[in-house]
Amino acid sequence: VEQTGPREIGGERVSLRQFESADGEELSEVVTDNIDHLRPWMEWASAEPLTRDERIALIERWAESDDLNYGVYVRGSLIGVCGFMHRIGDGGVEIGYWLAEARTGRGHITEAAGLLTTLAFSDPTIDRVEIHHDKANTASAGVPRRLGYRLISEEADKIKTPAEIGIECIWRTKRADWRPEQSGS
Ligand SMILES: CC(C)(COP(=O)(O)OP(=O)(O)OC[C@H]1O[C@@H](n2cnc3c(N)ncnc32)[C@H](O)[C@@H]1OP(=O)(O)O)[C@@H](O)C(=O)NCCC(=O)NCCS
Repeated sequence: VEQTGPREIGGERVSLRQFESADGEELSEVVTDNIDHLRPWMEWASAEPLTRDERIALIERWAESDDLNYGVYVRGSLIGVCGFMHRIGDGGVEIGYWLAEARTGRGHITEAAGLLTTLAFSDPTIDRVEIHHDKANTASAGVPRRLGYRLISEEADKIKTPAEIGIECIWRTKRADWRPEQSGS
């Protein structure tokens, strides 16, 4: 399925833009500079660094999938990635994210995840949005908490990355509970 969703979304402090092949180099640079920050938590980080061609192929696969991957930008610089995946069954999408380490602590990914939550609900077939993280990843937990998601379960899960302890926390917001102004602060 071709991806849909706006090419760009402007927030108060961040803007989101879908990746194009031309963004490959900037993305590789941010990933490489932050690999020690990402490896503990992001499963894909074990395959880094990708070659230039692998990065472009990845961005092209993203463009063909119905999952969406947005670069998160502040004043034109890529600071992280926020996207959604249709892997939690009908009517649901799961949001994932990461930031460059030096860009943490300012609420930027909370704002980005809020913008994507609002975008997810613009699809009338979506009635729930979830954020999943390992219980040891307390920084990740802060994002759904600040957005007013509810923690709905903690379940044993495979350990997929070096820092996980194998307890998956699932946070959810339902269409009826979501206020678009929850997108950040
Ligand atoms: C998960 C991750 C993106 C969270 O980053 P973060 O900087 O904590 O999240 P935000 O950008 O939303 O910033 C929130 C922080 O900014 C602070 N903040 C400052 N101004 C703010 C504002 N206007 N609005 C909201 N928060 C603000 C918050 O208090 C919070 O700080 P605290 O955790 O000390 O309370 C980051 O830790 C990361 O990249 N980790 C590695 C990859 C990863 O684990 N990804 C998730 C896998 S499930």
